[in-house]
Amino acid sequence: MSPDTADLKQQAAWYAVQFVEVGMVVGLGHGSTAIHAVRRIAQMLQDGALTDILGVPCSLQIEEEARRLGIPLTTLEKHPVVDLTIDGADEVDPNLDLIKGGGGALLREKIVAQASQREIIVVDVSKLSPALGTRWSVPVEVAPFGWRSQIAYLESLGATVALREEADATPFITDQGNMILHCNFGPISAPSRLAAKLNERAGIVEHGLFVGLATDVIVASAEGISHLKRGESDARN
Ligand code: A5P
Repeated sequence: MSPDTADLKQQAAWYAVQFVEVGMVVGLGHGSTAIHAVRRIAQMLQDGALTDILGVPCSLQIEEEARRLGIPLTTLEKHPVVDLTIDGADEVDPNLDLIKGGGGALLREKIVAQASQREIIVVDVSKLSPALGTRWSVPVEVAPFGWRSQIAYLESLGATVALREEADATPFITDQGNMILHCNFGPISAPSRLAAKLNERAGIVEHGLFVGLATDVIVASAEGISHLKRGESDARN
């Protein structure tokens, strides 16, 4: 019987945890894949297989879960450099660039990723894509002040825009008190050019294009684990 997606997510996350070493500051990613890494780290701490770890959670939800599991935590104020982060992704292209933020935690995830010496992304094989935007919209986190004015700007860049809402149709509010606009650009030919356009707009707090940030991508499929590394020309072969 071939493994289901939940098994593949766990396999990718557990594979990544082998790179966590004693004494490290570790970024704890958000989402249904990264949570397996958080639980694995907690288990290893309990068993004594790992010691002296400090976690930097990428969301309030993961912070709560990590506390519950007994993982010692720190902050970027106390530890501005993170040794290694394990996080998920929504879409991964052949350059190992990503769309992230499906869980709504993209701002903290990007802050932690940029503070990390090594950013290991864990995915099941369904996340691989020939071009970002083929399968997912780009989540764009916007300040509540004047948020509607961002829609026309995003449309002028080619997006179809939808406000992220809760089940009761109220706006989804991020950990930082912002809103999220899901922007469907279709396949994005130049993610870094689009990222630059999004970066230059006041009121756009952050976006889910993670360009040049992943150092490693661990992909789990029915055939096994592939470990893709930035800078290796045959990353996706
Ligand atoms: C959270 O905001 C996201 O960036 C997640 O890392 C991404 O959505 C992947 O989530 P899953 O692992 O749940 O698919």
